[in-house]
Amino acid sequence: MNPTLELIHARRSTRVYDPTPLTIAEKDAILSAAMRAPTAGAMMLYTIIEVNDQALKDRLAVICDNQPFIAKSPYLLFFLADYQRWMDLYAAAGCETRALELGVDPRTPQEGDLILALMDALIAAQTAVLAAESLGIGSCYIGDIIENWELHRELFGLPQYTFPAALLCFGRSAEKPNRKQVARFEREFIVHTDHYRRFPPEKLNEMHLPFGRESLAEGEFSNQAHNVVQYNYLRKFTADFSLEMTRSARAMIASWCGQDNIAPPGLNRH
Ligand SMILES: Cc1cc2nc3c(=O)[nH]c(=O)nc-3n(C[C@H](O)[C@H](O)[C@H](O)COP(=O)(O)O)c2cc1C
Repeated sequence: MNPTLELIHARRSTRVYDPTPLTIAEKDAILSAAMRAPTAGAMMLYTIIEVNDQALKDRLAVICDNQPFIAKSPYLLFFLADYQRWMDLYAAAGCETRALELGVDPRTPQEGDLILALMDALIAAQTAVLAAESLGIGSCYIGDIIENWELHRELFGLPQYTFPAALLCFGRSAEKPNRKQVARFEREFIVHTDHYRRFPPEKLNEMHLPFGRESLAEGEFSNQAHNVVQYNYLRKFTADFSLEMTRSARAMIASWCGQDNIAPPGLNRH
């Protein structure tokens, strides 16, 4: 394997950090790598907020489903899908007026623009992860940043056409050495050829084998599940945090698409 592939294969999420701050040069290397990521139409439809304020970190640790390690991360980056900057630029450049003069209907960002901006933000985030890894700095994504949108909006002053994409904790690992990597499903379940393939139950039963047991094998679990899939369903899919994620995401999408009345006053609504 070449050094890049070795790095990718050795990566694992890091949740316990040496408190030593990252140097300015390390932060600069991570940010400049992120900003070299591919980006739709070279528009850079994302914003990265460096979260330095310890009070903000402490708050995030609570509202992102109570994960105290967030507050201990020496370097925290909040990636937003962002069309606000372009909408502000379009306004500054008189785009709407000119479009009307030319008989073109002006428009505002909608679902397609949101997904494109999310793609941009997440590709930049993963580029930051790999850049950090190459410097010996670990990281962990926090998906719970999608929850409690109203609180994040207030905390960070998020305007209408921004959308939380990922929170990333960085830091040198202080975890036990030689930790086992988290397994992955066999490739046949993930990589298909030419068309999508669904699997019958017997095949799906094999899927969980890299994690040490068949998917449907009977067992006893703390949450009264009878197999590992039920365990996952009850612990994650139907859990309160998943329901909150859906509520919050729905509110964010409605706001982005201008289908709500809850955006704070003073925003440039169309
Ligand atoms: C979108 C996304 C959201 C995640 N959210 C969290 C999280 O909120 N808390 C956490 O501890 N790990 C989180 N993770 C890390 C995953 O748990 C981790 O990537 C997975 O268990 C595989 O382990 P590995 O990264 O060490 O290979 C998240 C990862 C991704 C990609």
